[in-house]
Amino acid sequence: MQPASFDMPAFFAARPLLLAPMAGVNDPAFRLICKRMGAALTFSEMISAAGMRHKNPKTEELLLHLDGEAPFAVQLFGSDPCLLAEQAARLEDRLGDALALIDINMACPVRKVAGKGEGAALMRDPARAARILGAVVTATARPVTVKIRRGFYCGEETCVEFARMAEAQGAAAVTVHGRFAQQLYQGHSERAAVGRVAAAVSVPVIASGDVHSVADVADYFENQGAAAVMAARGAQGNPWLFSHWAGGASAGQPTHAERTAVAWEHARLLAQADPHRLVGLRRHVAWYFRGMPHAAALRRRVQECVSIDDYRDLMDAVASWN
Ligand SMILES: Cc1cc2nc3c(=O)[nH]c(=O)nc-3n(C[C@H](O)[C@H](O)[C@H](O)COP(=O)(O)O)c2cc1C
Repeated sequence: MQPASFDMPAFFAARPLLLAPMAGVNDPAFRLICKRMGAALTFSEMISAAGMRHKNPKTEELLLHLDGEAPFAVQLFGSDPCLLAEQAARLEDRLGDALALIDINMACPVRKVAGKGEGAALMRDPARAARILGAVVTATARPVTVKIRRGFYCGEETCVEFARMAEAQGAAAVTVHGRFAQQLYQGHSERAAVGRVAAAVSVPVIASGDVHSVADVADYFENQGAAAVMAARGAQGNPWLFSHWAGGASAGQPTHAERTAVAWEHARLLAQADPHRLVGLRRHVAWYFRGMPHAAALRRRVQECVSIDDYRDLMDAVASWN
């Protein structure tokens, strides 16, 4: 089935909650489950433009998706404006209407990425960041968005100037994660940084950071001028966050049977999309049952799962644990 093409103004009008890009977490099955639960848009894991150019099989795997997810967002990272522009154009050709938008990662703080001048390191090099955004915007007809941090160094907030630069280069939206890159994923995320950026630019601002509940999502919309919100760690094991937001927060916690059904559906869809990743499903399964009775026993048992049959046996056993 052909996906409907992505309509940006209609999208932001609906106070959307999105699944944030998460490397090593956002497999195609998890993304589809979040979408079915009400995520307005899902993001790929971050994808290396250099890996795409070299047709690295691991990179190609990150572009797999299942019917029902599209249109979805793809996030690219790199530091070479020409390479990023070339790969953005390739993505558009390859995915067609399945591609909602292209997001450029200027937020990733890990040494493997920022140490090479990519990801959050671009916040220390706004001139290069501007060349990247300008080149990618010119290379594709799809909306180009950028994800940034509050700043790079702790205490030095640069997101407002940086977002103004991104807007001037044609970015269609800016996502702000309210931690400094040096904080990595620790400490609190400064919600007001999202508000300061939203007050300074005319493009929509997407909020990221410490989104665990419907109240967190509402706060970004109501008090910080966010046009959309992204759930990241708060969605791990909890795709119900999307249905709770979409349904007005009245729903209660998922039952044991619902957790078991979603964990099994995740395994089944992943086996269909990308069976090589079934080992990586272990932590998702542990997350689905986090804090529940038997969670520790389940964490031990899931470490032995390798194949879809192993997950089926485990889920059959878990169904009777309640
Ligand atoms: C395991 C993990 C992987 C992540 N991978 C990416 C990524 O590929 N691209 C990106 O822009 N952000 C990535 N992030 C950052 C999240 O998208 C989000 O901005 C951050 O976790 C803050 O939100 P939270 O406090 O609600 O988790 C990742 C975060 C985690 C925990």
